[in-house]
Amino acid sequence: MDYILAPSILSADFLNLGRTIEMLNRSASDWLHLDIMDGVFVPNISFGFPVVKQVATATEKPMDAHLMIVEPDKFITRFRDLGIYSLTVQYEACTHLNRTLNAIREAGMKAGVALNPHTPIEVLTDVLDDFDMALVMSVNPGFGGQKFIPRTIDKVRRLRKMLDDRGLKTLIEVDGGVNLDNARQLVAAGVNALVVGNTVFKSPNPEAMIKSLKYDI
Ligand code: DX5
Ligand code: ZN
Repeated sequence: MDYILAPSILSADFLNLGRTIEMLNRSASDWLHLDIMDGVFVPNISFGFPVVKQVATATEKPMDAHLMIVEPDKFITRFRDLGIYSLTVQYEACTHLNRTLNAIREAGMKAGVALNPHTPIEVLTDVLDDFDMALVMSVNPGFGGQKFIPRTIDKVRRLRKMLDDRGLKTLIEVDGGVNLDNARQLVAAGVNALVVGNTVFKSPNPEAMIKSLKYDI
């Protein structure tokens, strides 16, 4: 099974971020997932532009930024200028989702839309052509290390069918509580990209865990 593995540095040791990025560069990971939180859309604050700017100078992997913030439109060009590859906004934070997704594409990035666990996948019906990746949240956004919500698998299947019916190759990413036990089922349901935080960074050997997640599931 081939899929994109995107470790989230939210769970990494920030005192040793440089070494973490070097490890990720030589690891079997594909993307680097950046969780940006504003303390308004989610009840937590993570990191912002100064950290992303430093990460950008060291990473050799495409940066996959997940904005858990209100008013993401304000920051699209700033993320583009930092070299972000794919920019994902939360559906629930966008009053004019079509406009926001178009603006991300016009800025030259892949456009992603993330859905909270309670948001039905069918809300994407009328914007299906307007994004390159859907991020199905498998925990309530805000924190690493939460328990995977099993109903996510059914959401992924429904979305894969919606995309297939329209002949779209749009990627599906899943984020939250992903581990060696549920990864196979997720990929079988139609997931193309797995975000992994705690499973990698709380493991005694993160580099070996990345390899297992990539090749042993
Ligand atoms: C949660 C974030 C996730 C998080 C995943 O709000 O969007 O990317 O870092 O962490 P784990 O894999 O530990 O659930
Ligand atoms: Zn995320």
